[in-house]
Amino acid sequence: MPTDAITQKVSERYAKAANTGEQMCCPTSYDMGHLKTFIPEEVLKISYGCGTPAGLKTVRAGETVLDIGSGGGIDCFEASRLVGPTGRVIGIDMTDTMLEIARKNASVVAANLGYSNSNVEFRKGLADAMPVEDGTIDLIISNCVINLAPDKRKVFREMYRVAKPGGRFTISDIVSDQTVPQYLVHDTQKWGDCLSGALTLTTYMTGMTEAGFLGIHLVKFSPWRVIDGIHFFSVTLTGYKLPPATTASSVRTPPFEAPSADLWMNEV
Ligand SMILES: C[S@@+](CC[C@H](N)C(=O)[O-])C[C@H]1O[C@@H](n2cnc3c(N)ncnc32)[C@H](O)[C@@H]1O
Repeated sequence: MPTDAITQKVSERYAKAANTGEQMCCPTSYDMGHLKTFIPEEVLKISYGCGTPAGLKTVRAGETVLDIGSGGGIDCFEASRLVGPTGRVIGIDMTDTMLEIARKNASVVAANLGYSNSNVEFRKGLADAMPVEDGTIDLIISNCVINLAPDKRKVFREMYRVAKPGGRFTISDIVSDQTVPQYLVHDTQKWGDCLSGALTLTTYMTGMTEAGFLGIHLVKFSPWRVIDGIHFFSVTLTGYKLPPATTASSVRTPPFEAPSADLWMNEV
């Protein structure tokens, strides 16, 4: 299937889902009771993620956070609360209907959080060509989106480009235990269901490493569905873009919370 056709079908699918609020993808473990205190129901009912990348103590006050495929804005709004009024959040999505709902609710969330101005901005764009300046992002999050992109390697390269040196990512996504066969890859319905575009975990992590990220490790892993003997999982991964001219000693005492040594994929 041509990549433009995949992108168009996926966008149509999520434009429809934004209007109907239909159940899609797998349940996340966000505490909706907590989110309801400051995020409108219109956003919460179109939460289509497969993890909680903004809710894992990864977001820090004052940071600039980028959410790839922000949808109705659920992760952006939780990140907005966590970065505080001095921080900044940018959500990118390709689907106009999602962007409209997210933008409409940004001022409501800001008022609920007691901010004088919203610190969240939603931009229209593709994950593999993001309208974001080079080296400006402290933390990249994404919730069940990269599997929907036809060219994941381009997305990983874009992530590396926009991350600050010393920046990091925490992303939730769907992966499979084996290469998805061609008959599923050509099934447009299952692309939109976050199945056909899934990579294996190994391919996913290799793609991230090839893009330049280091210290890539699994934070969460939960089984989701089995289709024709193929197991699909929801995973959350974290990794780092090291600062330039890093020395071996500075790698051992990085300016971020490093994973335990045995989880590092690359020795530098
Ligand atoms: C499964 S929904 C997840 C939305 C949101 N992250 C959440 O947790 O509710 C996928 C979202 O990613 C967007 N999307 C899918 N592929 C994209 C791409 N290649 N570039 C930008 N946005 C994309 C869709 O428009 C949709 O809003």
